[in-house]
Amino acid sequence: SRPVVVDCDPGHDDALALVLAVADPRLRLLGVTTVAGNQTLDKTTRNALKILALAGAAEVPVAAGCDRPLVGELTVAEDIHGVSGLDGPDLDLPTGEPADVHGVELMRRLITESVEPVTLIATGPLTNVALLLRRHPEVAPLVRRIVFMGGSTERGNTTPYGEFNIVTDPEAADIVLRSGLPTTMIGLNVTHRALATDEIIAELRGLGSRLGTVCAELMTFFAGAYHRVFGFAHPPVHDPVAVAAVIDPAVLRTVAAPVAVELTGRHTRGATVVDLHDSTGRTPNADVAVDLDVEAFWRLLMAAVRTLGS
Ligand code: BDR
Ligand code: CA
Repeated sequence: SRPVVVDCDPGHDDALALVLAVADPRLRLLGVTTVAGNQTLDKTTRNALKILALAGAAEVPVAAGCDRPLVGELTVAEDIHGVSGLDGPDLDLPTGEPADVHGVELMRRLITESVEPVTLIATGPLTNVALLLRRHPEVAPLVRRIVFMGGSTERGNTTPYGEFNIVTDPEAADIVLRSGLPTTMIGLNVTHRALATDEIIAELRGLGSRLGTVCAELMTFFAGAYHRVFGFAHPPVHDPVAVAAVIDPAVLRTVAAPVAVELTGRHTRGATVVDLHDSTGRTPNADVAVDLDVEAFWRLLMAAVRTLGS
């Protein structure tokens, strides 16, 4: 199995990403680090602990990372994820405690101690990952790949061309994309196809386990928010697509392309400028997801929730 660390800001879709990372036998979840994004750091950390406890993985170490972007102030996504960051289900359950180290330090240790190179899966703003690469450049050769949910080859969701994770910390995304490490970008252009339809939500609920019910309730809340804020008929579950990409690359089609993060644009700060048509002549720095096998994706996710629920 492939060793991974998940860096996240749960977050409804981050919660499903964690469930998938815990459950799938092809991955070995070494640890979870949290970042401020969908909600403040204390809340995303608490939420990660809750989801791991619910998934029967309370032994997986969790450490809180950065509480704000590298530059500027944090703007949380309370309209989408609620006051707790995981509004909807009853998540009152005993959890473990976060490790007594900074998230970036936990990442460094897990990567250094791993026998095999580690894949980093980032489903929040890239603050922790950027800080890791800046503070501990010696770990770079031990990182197999960075797979992140963020950006888009087309529309945004926070600004017309900006996606939330990148807009929240554009400088961090810029550092990661210019690091020279193998990178996979899972943007809105594919995640907007991973929709939690009514059938999917009913199937989750029908599993009959507490985890299945919680997932269904998370998706029901998420559906309401996406409908209210974006007018979507069904909510896109962005983050587990990044985990699925590591489990089974065949779930996605990717194209190697140059990706730049707009840092100064007046209307476009945080936009990912993806050169799919070789107009810049630059060397590709990311494998950019351009297509998703939606059914294969949902099969993976449903199997994960079923496995952990039994
Ligand atoms: C991303 O933003 C967050 O709200 C989600 O958890 C996801 O990581 C989608 O733009
Ligand atoms: Ca997220």
